[in-house]
Amino acid sequence: MNWDDTTDTDAAGERLVGASADGEDQAVEAALRPKDLGEFIGQEKVREQLDLVLRAARARGATADHVLLSGAPGLGKTTLSMIIAAEMGAPIRITSGPAIQHAGDLAAILSSLQEGEVLFLDEIHRMSRPAEEMLYMAMEDFRVDVIVGKGPGATAIPLELPPFTLVGATTRAGLLPPPLRDRFGFTAHMEFYGPAELERVIHRSAGLLDVEIDTAGAAEIAGRSRGTPRIANRLLRRVRDYAQVKADGRITQEIAAAALAVYEVDARGLDRLDRGVLEALLKLFGGGPVGLSTLAVAVGEERETVEEVAEPFLVREGLLARTPRGRVATPAAWAHLGLTPPRSQSSGNGQQDLFGA
Ligand SMILES: Nc1ncnc2c1ncn2[C@@H]1O[C@H](COP(=O)(O)OP(=O)(O)OP(=O)(O)O)[C@@H](O)[C@H]1O
Ligand SMILES: [Mg+2]
Repeated sequence: MNWDDTTDTDAAGERLVGASADGEDQAVEAALRPKDLGEFIGQEKVREQLDLVLRAARARGATADHVLLSGAPGLGKTTLSMIIAAEMGAPIRITSGPAIQHAGDLAAILSSLQEGEVLFLDEIHRMSRPAEEMLYMAMEDFRVDVIVGKGPGATAIPLELPPFTLVGATTRAGLLPPPLRDRFGFTAHMEFYGPAELERVIHRSAGLLDVEIDTAGAAEIAGRSRGTPRIANRLLRRVRDYAQVKADGRITQEIAAAALAVYEVDARGLDRLDRGVLEALLKLFGGGPVGLSTLAVAVGEERETVEEVAEPFLVREGLLARTPRGRVATPAAWAHLGLTPPRSQSSGNGQQDLFGA
C-alpha cells in the first residue's frame, strides 16, 4: 500500500496535526515509547504475527528473519524496531536510507555488525541503487563484495557477515523494488489506530508524563488525533499546557475541547488549513467539482500544499473526493461544517453517481 509521505513537507512539519516528528516530539518520544510487545498498544495482527516470528527465532536460538515495517508516519515503526531488538535481547544499530549514499557506507555498517544485531534502516525506500544491490546479497547470504581499487585493476573481495536481522521501515512500501521486498521474511502492515486504542495510548502517556486525565478527556483528544499515536501524544501535551495554565492541571473533556479549540484542531482532527480548503470548496464552489489550482488560489495556498498536506486526510476521512473533473465535497463534508448542500446536489446531478446519495 502507498502512504502519503507528504507530511514530510515543511508546511506540514509545523502543524499540530502533522504526522511527522518535530523537534519537541523527538525529545519526548524516547520517554513515551513502549519498551516491549506487551506494552505496544493496538495493531493486534502485527503484534501477534511478530510475536510468533520472534518467539520461534528465540526457541531455535537463531537470529530473527528480516522484518519490513510499512505504514504512515507516526504509527510506531521506529518503536517496533526497538521492541524487536529488546525482545531478541540484541543490540540495535539505527540508520536510514538517505544516510546511505554510497555502497561503501553500507559496507562499513554491515561489516561492523555483531552477531544477532538488529540493523534498523529507516526510510529504506530512499536508499541509493548501488547500496540496495549490496543489501540484497547481505540479506540473503550474509556476505558482501567490497570493491577495492578503481578502474580495470579493481577487485571484489568477498566479506562474510555475521547473521543479523534487518528491520526496514517505509511509508511507501509500493516504492520498494520487488527483489528487496521479497527478501524480507515478514512484512508488517501498520494500520491507523481506532479511537479506543488511541485512548489507551493517551492514558498511558498521561501516566508517564504525570498528568491527570479522565476517560472523557482522553476520548476527546483521541477523536482529534487522526488515528496516529504521535499526534495523540502531541495533542496531549498541548492540552496539558492549557490545563496547567487555565485550570488545576487535570484534563477533563471540557478542558480538552477548550484547549484544542484554542489550537484550532476541530472535533474530527481537522486544522485551520484543512477547514479552509473544505470551506472554500463548499462556500465558493458549491461543493465542486473544482480544479486544484482554482481551489488553491481560493485558499491562498500553494497547489502542492493543498494537494499534499491538506487533501490526503480529507480524502481518507471521506470528506473530499478527487475526480477526473476536479475536487468534489462529499455529503459528510457539508454535515461536518454544518452547511446545507445546494438543492441541485440532493436532487440529482453528476454527484449522485459519485456518492449514491
Ligand atoms: N502502539 C503504540 N502504543 C503506544 N505508543 C505508540 C504506539 N505507536 C506509536 N506510539 C508513540 O508514537 C510515537 C511515534 O511512534 P514512532 O516514532 O515509532 O512512529 P514511526 O512510525 O516510526 O514514524 P515515522 O514514519 O515518522 O518514522 C512514539 O513516541 C510512541 O510513543
Ligand atoms: Mg520512525
